[in-house]
Amino acid sequence: MQRLPDEILAYYERGDEDQRLRAGVERLEFWRTQDVLRRLLPSAARVLDLGGGTGVHAEWLAAGGHDVELIDPVPLHVDRAAQLPGVTARVGNALDVDVADESFDVVLLLGPLYHLTEPADRLRALAEARRVARTGGLVVVATISRFAPLHDTLRLGRYFDADVRDRVEISVATGTHRPRSSDGLFTTAYFHEPGEIVDELGAAELAVTGQFGVEGAAWLISDMDSWLDDPDRRAAVLRALRLTESAPRLLGVSAHVLSAARLP
Ligand SMILES: C[S@@+](CC[C@H](N)C(=O)[O-])C[C@H]1O[C@@H](n2cnc3c(N)ncnc32)[C@H](O)[C@@H]1O
Repeated sequence: MQRLPDEILAYYERGDEDQRLRAGVERLEFWRTQDVLRRLLPSAARVLDLGGGTGVHAEWLAAGGHDVELIDPVPLHVDRAAQLPGVTARVGNALDVDVADESFDVVLLLGPLYHLTEPADRLRALAEARRVARTGGLVVVATISRFAPLHDTLRLGRYFDADVRDRVEISVATGTHRPRSSDGLFTTAYFHEPGEIVDELGAAELAVTGQFGVEGAAWLISDMDSWLDDPDRRAAVLRALRLTESAPRLLGVSAHVLSAARLP
């Protein structure tokens, strides 16, 4: 199996991933990813969740009648996902997927592209996703937006720290983030422009049929966490985000973008 770089493995071995989307403003990422995927996926599909982490999405997909197989390079994640009803989980890498050609109706890549800094590796992962999806199948990939670290550190006040600001500005210019153990910023990462992932999918012979801003601008609103605790306000926020989700000029404001491609 292709080896995950040590610093990425160490980052995920801290064990934060299972709770990440279950509290705070990050709940927007969870509910909005669900909202978009529920509209895109056929019923009772065979789903491959590549880079599926601890199974935060595999869990509700399996409960909704899909047959879900999860692959992730972090053993801690796989151990957790393997306990979920209806989910099969094993260790593996999106760069080299140990799965037969054309064996899934849906392939999800909601995480691996965040950590592939080399264009050739991103193309390889996308080509693998295409290879294992059946004719007429669906591939959905998530990317982190180029400006998300800038918006996030500005939102949190960390951008006022000159060292953090310098490093964030490098990621704005290059898309690439290299971690330093002391700064508490993300691990090795690549941040996409919305149009860039369309080109990369095209290079893997995957024609994009839709792009969806996951959090839109809502993740930047300071009252959002408490609004999400209120079911009526949460429903209104989710409705508002549907209105803006595919507006091309707003895509890059969202922290995450989902891009969908249907195989011919
Ligand atoms: C931020 S988490 C996202 C987890 C989950 N898919 C979600 O949407 O919440 C990124 C995941 O990608 C996985 N990952 C990183 N590099 C990968 C690679 N080369 N192949 C497959 N998975 C990878 C990590 O182990 C981690 O579980």
